[in-house]
Formats: sequence, C-alpha cells, structure tokens
Amino acid sequence: MTSVFSPLRWESGVLFLIDQLRLPREELWIPCRDEVEVADAIRRMVVRGAPAIGCAAAFGVALAARRLVAQGAGSPAFEQGVRKAIDQLASTRPTAVNLFWALNEMRSACQGPPENAARALEERAMAIWKDDVDRCLKIGQAGAELIPDGATILTHCNAGALATGGYGTALGVIRAARDAGKRIRVLADETRPFLQGARLTAWELARDKIDVTLIPDVAAAWLMRNGQVSCVVVGADRIAANGDVANKIGTYPLALAAREHQVPFFVAAPFSTVDPSTPDGDAIPIEERQGGEVTQIAEIQIAPQGVAARNPAFDVTPARLVSAIVTEQGVYRPPYDFR
Ligand code: MRU
Repeated sequence: MTSVFSPLRWESGVLFLIDQLRLPREELWIPCRDEVEVADAIRRMVVRGAPAIGCAAAFGVALAARRLVAQGAGSPAFEQGVRKAIDQLASTRPTAVNLFWALNEMRSACQGPPENAARALEERAMAIWKDDVDRCLKIGQAGAELIPDGATILTHCNAGALATGGYGTALGVIRAARDAGKRIRVLADETRPFLQGARLTAWELARDKIDVTLIPDVAAAWLMRNGQVSCVVVGADRIAANGDVANKIGTYPLALAAREHQVPFFVAAPFSTVDPSTPDGDAIPIEERQGGEVTQIAEIQIAPQGVAARNPAFDVTPARLVSAIVTEQGVYRPPYDFR
C-alpha cells in the first residue's frame, strides 16, 4: 500500500502548504498563519485541486477563529469575524464546489462561546481533511475494478495527492490499480497553460514509481486514434445533478475524442464534488484567470507583449460523454442519479 502523501500539514496552529507553484523544482512548505494567507495561497494556486482547496479553506476558518480568541473577541465579534473569514475564503475561486461545501461544514460547526467554537472549528477542519483521504482511498478501491491489467491510462491536470487531502481521486484509482498488482502505464497530459500535468502529476507519479509518460495535450486524440489509450481517468471540480462534469480546461475535448475512438472515459470524485443544487453544466460558474498564464511560461514571455489572451480555467463535459463516475460510494453509470 502506497504511503499517503498530503499537500498540507497542521502543526501547532499553523497550516503548512507545499508550494505547488515551485514543484517540481523544489519542495518548499509555506506557513499560513491566518485566513488572509490561506485565501492568498488558494487564489495564487500554491494549493489547488478541488478537495485540497476545501481542506485548506477549512483550516483558514480555524485560523481565523484562533486569532479572534487570542484577540479576546466576545461572542458577536467572534461570530462576525468567522463569517467574514468564510466570505473571504469563498471569494477565492468560483468553480470547485468542494470549497463551498467545506465552508458550509465550517459554518455549521461554529457553535457556542468563542473558545469552544474555535476548538470545534479546528476539530472540524481536521475531520474534513482526514475524511477526504478516506474518501480517496475508497474511490481508489472502487475505481481500480474498472482498470484492466496492462492498461495505458490517460489523465489530465493533477487529480492526485496534491489536489486532495491525500492519495488522490483519478491518481487514487491509478495507485489502487497498481497496488492491486495490475500492470499499468500512465500518459499524463501536460495541461496547458498552468502545466499541472507536466509539473505535478509527473512529479507525483514518478515519486511513487508509477510508469508515467508526459504528452502534449494536443497529442491525446492522435494516440487514441492509434489504439494507444485504454481509458481516460480524470478528476472533477463540480458535478451537476445531471452528471455534467466541470474539470480542468481540456477535459471536454478529451471526452469528445474518447467517444469518437470508443475509449472509456471515467471521472473520479468524492461526493463533496457533486452539487445537487446545480441542475446541469450550464449553471456551473467557470473561472477565467489572467491572460499572463497563457502568454508566459514560468515567467518567460512567449507571446508578443500586449497580445490579448483568454484563459478559461475549466470546461464542462456533458454527462452523455462520461462512461462512469467513481465515488467513495461506488461506481455510477448513466443516466446519473446521485440520490
Ligand atoms: O485549477 P486547478 O489546478 O485547481 O484544477 C484542478 C482540477 O481541475 C482537478 O482535476 C480537479 O480539481 C480534481 S482534483 C482531485
């Protein structure tokens, strides 16, 4: 069984995040001492991946509560301060529903006088984190059944330990398949423009000695056409009630190519990613990030200065292109009904 690596650590009231902007060049842990630092880390993508930002935000609320208690805030000021921290953290990234799910969990854990509430909030954040790892382990077990021995699995972005409390969703399925003794190979899309595949998935899988080959995003359809992909496994940032899946930009074209070439297309995600209040993909807010992420690579300008650039960070894959959705409660097949 692979040991569970986590992108966060909680030590004596400080949240440490592995800096995902610096990986794989260096493994640097950034301390966050209050909710403002956590919000900034989420916005800049020091921590990223739907479940991981939910976990980090939960600790952001716990840090705010600690600070308010240390400042001697009475009940009304404490409650107001916690609410403000929740709003601040909620404004960081719009697409991954796990962020709002975790913040709602924290809102309902904020009960009683400030000291008790602060303790309860810290315990709730720890539970959200631990629970996410447990869910990923279960997703891995359920998903591994779908992976044939000898498979070449294509994945996009990073839906691994780095993107979760630990272990990963899509990469959890891959880890569990490998741990079940299946011979597997992984093709990792580089995932332009932020290069989560090249920087993070390749790092994480190589660290676990899983056979990984990096490909340009634009090579995926061609490799499917040539019979070199057995299945696609990706994560999700939000799954609408009808099974439409928002995930990293570039997921939708993969699903289209997979359908054309009869390659199974699997999505792996915890139930905290399913949003029953979003009826379908059209209602999912899609984050648009700054154009500099497109015109530059590692701070090197590659496009003409001043050229306009669009940078939608996610796309929506319609449910009809998704062969199965793997959750901690098992494998769902279309038509999707998560009740
Ligand atoms: O912009 P990011 O890097 O936060 O986007 C991450 C993804 O799209 C992941 O595939 C998704 O969050 C699932 S992570 C288990």
